[in-house]
Amino acid sequence: MEHSKPKTFQERLELNIGALTIMIAIAVSAGGIFCVVPLFLLDSTYEDTVKFPELDGVRPYTALEQAGRDIYIREGCYTCHSQMIRPFRDELERYGHYSLAVESKYDHPFQWGSKRTGPDLARVGGKYSNEWHVAHLTSPRAVVPESVMPNYPWFKTAMVDADAMPGKLSALRMVGVPYTDADIAGAKEAVAGKTEMDAMVAYLQCLGTMIKFEEGKAYRE
Ligand code: HEC
Repeated sequence: MEHSKPKTFQERLELNIGALTIMIAIAVSAGGIFCVVPLFLLDSTYEDTVKFPELDGVRPYTALEQAGRDIYIREGCYTCHSQMIRPFRDELERYGHYSLAVESKYDHPFQWGSKRTGPDLARVGGKYSNEWHVAHLTSPRAVVPESVMPNYPWFKTAMVDADAMPGKLSALRMVGVPYTDADIAGAKEAVAGKTEMDAMVAYLQCLGTMIKFEEGKAYRE
């Protein structure tokens, strides 16, 4: 059977790998420009804290909380836990108010995620006592028999690397987290003698507690 000759522009393009590659690059770049450029022109990419002053409670993590956050990332807790509540009824009833962009404004990198082998942790702060977290992290099955979460018994004895803390906070300041000189100078002392368990519990207990949401209010502009 004789092959029909390419007729349309589309058909000719699909048969020319070089031209097709160039056109794909142009199409992808255009898409990227439309998605990325507006973000540079917006005053902020998160909710308006002037219009909604109650959303203004988000603060940088303390040195101890930040140390816990680094351990959270090191241990890959995000491979089983998301930190983003979606605006769907089942999620709202289980976890509380859906996550707002302003809540992650000091998160570098953010921990939103999508894999949920375990529950979302965006608002786990204050849900359990510190003692519960210690028992759970040491041996999850001691408190939740059906749990598939790994044991993290070394958190109790491993110490936070205090010497590294000032450098970590100043690196975060470089990407926009408003740590003061005093925060950075005091970071080593703030975590000195603390175990990884202290840091992890401090981090978990602050999650989702910085904003006091008003019942039934929609934070949309
Ligand atoms: C293999 C997947 C897995 C990993 C990795 C994992 N978890 Fe979990 N996690 C779970 C599961 C499943 C549950 C629910 C059962 C339970 O409470 O143990 C859970 C529950 C929790 C809870 C209680 C949440 C609630 O609302 O009841 C916390 C807090 C928690 N995990 C923290 C962590 C931290 C911190 C790490 C990393 C050090 C971690 N998890 C790593 C699977 C995991």
